[in-house]
Amino acid sequence: MSAPVHLPPLRATPEWGALAAHQRALRDVTLRQLFATDPGRGTRLVAEGAGLYLDYSKNLVTDETLRLLQELARARGVLARRDAMFRGDRINRTEDRAVLHVALRAPRGTQISVDGRNIVPEVHEVLDRMAAFADRVRSGTWRGHSGKPLRNIVSIGIGGSDLGPVMAYEALRFYSRRDMRFRFVSNVDPADFVEATHDLDAAETLFIVCSKTFTTLETLANAHAAREWCLAALGGDAAAVAKHFVAISTNAAEVARFGIDTANMFGFWDWVGGRYSMDSAIGLSTMLAIGPDGFREMLAGFHAMDEHFRTAPAGGNLPLLMGLLAVWYNNFFGAQTVAVLPYSRYLKRFPAYLQQLTMESNGKQATLANEAVDVQTGPVYWGEPGTDGQHSFYQLIHQGTRLIPCDFIGFEQALTPLGGQHELLMANLLAQTEALASGRTADQLRAENTPDWLVPHRVCPGNRPTNTILAGRLTPGTLGALVALYEHSVFTQGAVWNINSFDQWGVELGKQLARKVTAELQARDEPELHHDSSTNALIRRYRAARRSGG
Ligand code: F6P
Repeated sequence: MSAPVHLPPLRATPEWGALAAHQRALRDVTLRQLFATDPGRGTRLVAEGAGLYLDYSKNLVTDETLRLLQELARARGVLARRDAMFRGDRINRTEDRAVLHVALRAPRGTQISVDGRNIVPEVHEVLDRMAAFADRVRSGTWRGHSGKPLRNIVSIGIGGSDLGPVMAYEALRFYSRRDMRFRFVSNVDPADFVEATHDLDAAETLFIVCSKTFTTLETLANAHAAREWCLAALGGDAAAVAKHFVAISTNAAEVARFGIDTANMFGFWDWVGGRYSMDSAIGLSTMLAIGPDGFREMLAGFHAMDEHFRTAPAGGNLPLLMGLLAVWYNNFFGAQTVAVLPYSRYLKRFPAYLQQLTMESNGKQATLANEAVDVQTGPVYWGEPGTDGQHSFYQLIHQGTRLIPCDFIGFEQALTPLGGQHELLMANLLAQTEALASGRTADQLRAENTPDWLVPHRVCPGNRPTNTILAGRLTPGTLGALVALYEHSVFTQGAVWNINSFDQWGVELGKQLARKVTAELQARDEPELHHDSSTNALIRRYRAARRSGG
């Protein structure tokens, strides 16, 4: 077990005090003023790395803010902790594990050691097996039990074993095999499995059961349902499982117990967190969709951002900047959320993916010194693609009373050009960030002859901070870089707060209680209940309704 990381409480540090004083001094400075007094701001407060361009000039920051934030990062040892992660130190101390998702995209020939063993060759061995399997399925040489090629891929998993694969499939759909169907089943609600399979022919269907632990209730329930569905349709011969099921897991014993031959298992390792695993074998559905070369291109994008994070100077380091800006608003402006607004329909699941990445990582209350953290930790991440969001919740961002920092993500080239629609899309992105920064003043409104009584309703205060992230086009490589950007931004925030971004103990309590309640819901005789009176009454009501068929 690695030693506790003793850092002074944040509020007591001079760096925190300096930022708090600076924020007070900046209170009356507006983005309008900052742009007016510094014409070069929009080209100076930008950074580039791994094919992504970050414009952070529309943030409530000055050069002094950035200097103070970097001082904070230095005082909290963010870069030293980054180096410890890349080195393979056991920085996930509550689970006594290294944190090496960066090894999943390390090129062949790289050396990264865990307990003295170079793990990069193992990573490539699994990737090569995945590629050989994907080629066989895609070419139709891997056949189902009745001899038909497999054209339907159903990935079963939840959380990190689902959100990455779904997001990546949607994001990279343009590059995917259009003659194959991809479905994702996560929820234990039977509707999820039934709707995903109702129109599929089992003879042409491959199930990928994704679970790091292979003990997750939802995934196992759906995997059992899949086996029954498949065998019922294929004449009940258990030998069919070998042709229609593969498993992705770190737990070979449980995979075998379920009945999947471990020859059909693709492994990963305990040093890959579930929410950091979309580029491991958990991404097999992505590889089946876009092919092994596309998948490798995605890994190269991840790696380019890893290298950028590892080596770029602090002032131009995208994940470091984004992480520190998130701390700035969260801790010094009391912002409770961050909106992520991709101007790409293909990225429609990206905000949902980021919710697990950011909130399961940094929703923590104890420090790495086993003490209570003395500041707010992870903000709520949320979002929807533009322009849909504009006609829904942007009103609150423009004129509501809360500060909501936003990340706008856009692409210079359309994958699917259609007249001038891509310009319309991007014009909206640019217009929104401008409107949020500059707003519309009462004077402007009066000059436009707005009646006095209406002016307060139409004023947009502006001064709403945004990041703009631009890339050439949405490719597998761009997606990899984008995901790694957020992974390392999350890391930066967690390092400042001195929390463990790589465990998730909070999820356990609900899981334990669900096991108990399941037994109580299913019991034949009336069970003795020892919950709070609300839970007891709800259980009784449910049981009564089921008894009466209601
Ligand atoms: O929700 C908790 C969690 O452990 C996540 O961290 C993880 O991604 C998910 O459950 C699924 O776990 P597994 O891959 O082991 O089925």
